[in-house]
Amino acid sequence: MQDKCALLVEDNKIESAAITSLFNRAGFRLSAVSDGYAALDIISDNQYDMVISEVNLPSMSGIDLLLKIKEIDATLPVILISGDICVKDAVEAMKNGAYDFLLKPLEAETVECIISGICRTPVFSEQSPMNGKYTIVTKNDEMKRLMNYAEEISNSRASVFIHGESGTGKELFARHIHQFSTRKDKPFIAVNCAALPETLMESELFGYEKGAFTGAIARKKGKFEAADKGTILLDEISEMNYQLQSKLLRVLQEKEIDRVGGTESIPVDVRIIATTNRNIDNLMQEEKFREDLYYRLNTIPLHLPPLRERKDDISLLADYFINKYNKLENKVVKGLTEHAVIELTERPWKGNVRELENVIERAVLMCKGTFIDEKLLSLNGRLLTARPPVYMGQSVAPEVSLRELEKKVIFQTLDKTNGNRTHAADILGISVRTLRNKLNEYRQKMEQQ
Ligand SMILES: Nc1ncnc2c1ncn2[C@@H]1O[C@H](COP(=O)(O)OP(=O)(O)OP(=O)(O)O)[C@@H](O)[C@H]1O
Ligand SMILES: [Mg+2]
Repeated sequence: MQDKCALLVEDNKIESAAITSLFNRAGFRLSAVSDGYAALDIISDNQYDMVISEVNLPSMSGIDLLLKIKEIDATLPVILISGDICVKDAVEAMKNGAYDFLLKPLEAETVECIISGICRTPVFSEQSPMNGKYTIVTKNDEMKRLMNYAEEISNSRASVFIHGESGTGKELFARHIHQFSTRKDKPFIAVNCAALPETLMESELFGYEKGAFTGAIARKKGKFEAADKGTILLDEISEMNYQLQSKLLRVLQEKEIDRVGGTESIPVDVRIIATTNRNIDNLMQEEKFREDLYYRLNTIPLHLPPLRERKDDISLLADYFINKYNKLENKVVKGLTEHAVIELTERPWKGNVRELENVIERAVLMCKGTFIDEKLLSLNGRLLTARPPVYMGQSVAPEVSLRELEKKVIFQTLDKTNGNRTHAADILGISVRTLRNKLNEYRQKMEQQ
């Protein structure tokens, strides 16, 4: 994993040194500048994980800096800090997308909280859900064969195309390939191709020059440049816009990228891994996916089997997740009853391993004894997969509170995305952090009942 690095904008030298030392102790590198213009100059050339800025700066206020940063990179977390409590500033900051507003002097505990919050919030890139730590758990022969194959091809520069239903472990395999390769100490950057509209996706992937379009106030590197010498994961590539597909094909052929509004091509050395859960043959027939791009990407194809075709993995994975959530939630669940194992083995697992993980996570939380029985699993099954009634569009809605309705819509969306919180949050138009908070709230309520 790369070093985490933040940018501090602070004009007071003593405070700047104190904050730098707090972040360094928490394992974050910090570069410091003393005004907003200097910050904007270096943000576009560097991949920071967050920006921390004083509100009252000499030339450009922290709020103005926040607005400008959001134009350059809407996903970059910005934390505003101030020596005085000014409610107006705090409200303004949060309204304009600040990650947090904190009072100085910062304390070590606050810094730890911010860092862990930001590192756990998956947006794009290295801040992905699995962030460095991953284990492929399997005893299935086909999966073992695929893992060996992935290791064998890890050092080739040829593109890999991972096919598989949602939740089968495509991202996990992509990381496995990267970790086994000589590129392992270079960046692994994941981009969800379904997350942004075409124009934004182009500048996200290839970057842009200052003045390329309204609001492009400084040059910004794209994900390809950021992934140079490493690996880029183009997740859900089948959702990529047709025009953008031709630009990607050029990158594959020429091994160089063109920044939006740029005049010179920039050489990049990036290993591409693409994934899809769709049937690409159908998409090519419908002319939604370019055949030439497909053949370029599919140099090394990997097909991950769905969980229902590797039933021998179900109880192994269930035990692995019980262990994981015992540790995370301080529980001491020993395992599954025999009936529970049968129940799990017979399910269709449309959401594959992710769905299994969600079911076990909830069962561990709800388990009052030492073993998970089938009742705990069916309770979870209903919560996760039952389709709530549709109220929208009915002339008279049944009496239901707004909170209840929100909860139902959230579960319905999670159901649609097979439990994928990042996708669900995208659809709901909220951050993954908000979604996680809401789910924790529901879970606490359930536990209290
Ligand atoms: N064999 C496995 N061992 C351990 N965990 C696994 C395994 N397969 C999948 N997982 C876990 O299941 C979840 C889904 O895996 P992953 O994100 O790699 O799936 P995906 O195929 O990319 O899904 P999607 O198509 O929805 O993006 C992750 O939390 C991952 O850690
Ligand atoms: Mg994925």
